[in-house]
Amino acid sequence: MKGLILSGGAGTRLRPITHTSAKQLVPVANKPILFYGIEDMAEAGITEIGIVIAPTTGDEIREAVGDGSQFGVSITWIPQDEPLGLAHCVLIASEFLGDEEFVMYLGDNMLEQGLSGFVKRFQQSRSDTMALALDGPQLDRPSAQILLAEVDNPSAFGVAEIGPDDEVVQLVEKPEVPPSNLALVGIYLFDSSIHDAVSAIEPSPRGELEITDAIQWLIDSGRRVCHEVLDGWWIDTGKKDPLLECNRLVLDTLKLVVDGEIDEKSRVEGRVVIESGAKLVNSTVRGPAVIGAGSLITDSHIGPYSSIAVDCVIAGSEIDNSVILRRATITNIPRLTDSLVGRDTVIVRGDTRPRATRVMIGDHCNIEIE
Ligand code: TTP
Repeated sequence: MKGLILSGGAGTRLRPITHTSAKQLVPVANKPILFYGIEDMAEAGITEIGIVIAPTTGDEIREAVGDGSQFGVSITWIPQDEPLGLAHCVLIASEFLGDEEFVMYLGDNMLEQGLSGFVKRFQQSRSDTMALALDGPQLDRPSAQILLAEVDNPSAFGVAEIGPDDEVVQLVEKPEVPPSNLALVGIYLFDSSIHDAVSAIEPSPRGELEITDAIQWLIDSGRRVCHEVLDGWWIDTGKKDPLLECNRLVLDTLKLVVDGEIDEKSRVEGRVVIESGAKLVNSTVRGPAVIGAGSLITDSHIGPYSSIAVDCVIAGSEIDNSVILRRATITNIPRLTDSLVGRDTVIVRGDTRPRATRVMIGDHCNIEIE
């Protein structure tokens, strides 16, 4: 089985971060989101992985992932000129995928349960039906297996309708009257019949080749599509608040590790990771929280659910429930919360007169002042 991770896309919902970098590289508990997906694949025994990348952010992703050896996998890069849809990604990956079964994974999604069980059960049900067909009644092998999550607001998702025999009979994108509360999670298993499907479908009204249309095509042409309902959490991290939620869930699994330096006036409480080369001076860190290598925290309080990346400088400030990207400087900010702060950003409470808020911010920023 091969793996296909989609790490192109436009990322409009995570602007301005995505004006300058890939959303799949935004760190959750100081590790890029994409790395969790690659690790899940490696753990499921998938070692040949194709990664779809966009012209704008592809180089940065290539540099971060390298040849895959840090994860024990080999990577094939699949450039996509324009974000023409999830099914378009399968179309352009056909040479890499060949006739093999594969798992497709949206590079900005994260799930708690890992992939091993999901993959194993697909392979099992395909080999079971092979055995049945040899010496018993004919039952088609499933061509695809989708993962579903129970949600409160199905109208915001692609939703599956399940038939009486427990097979998927219909997929509807953002339905006004949802046929179920089962939303499509961004992880799919396919056999090679998906290549016929992605070649047969037409772009949707938004101009994309939709994976829901491709799966519907499989169903309509008589292929079996089975499903599993997710156990554990799943988050599409493509917007700020779900990203912060994901950061909280991952930080909750931390164990205390203090490799950095803590002076005698500083304290750490609870599950905290202080990476090597980080330094706390007259500061407290209350976990779960992580302080990246080379960051300097002075006269500050870092509260629960904060991830401070590498080489940040935090002075005279209080921060909680936030993700701060590398080399940010935050000075004299009494309380920064629920925030995502980009790389090399400077936030400072100054004493320049007249007292005022002075900004130089990029496009599509979102700032809420106390
Ligand atoms: P989405 O989050 O659905 O799309 P997007 O990245 O364009 O974001 P937005 O809606 O905020 O503009 O994409 C899910 C994942 O699939 C994400 O990792 C990007 C990737 N993707 C591709 O690689 N190619 C594509 O053509 C599309 C649409 C998405």
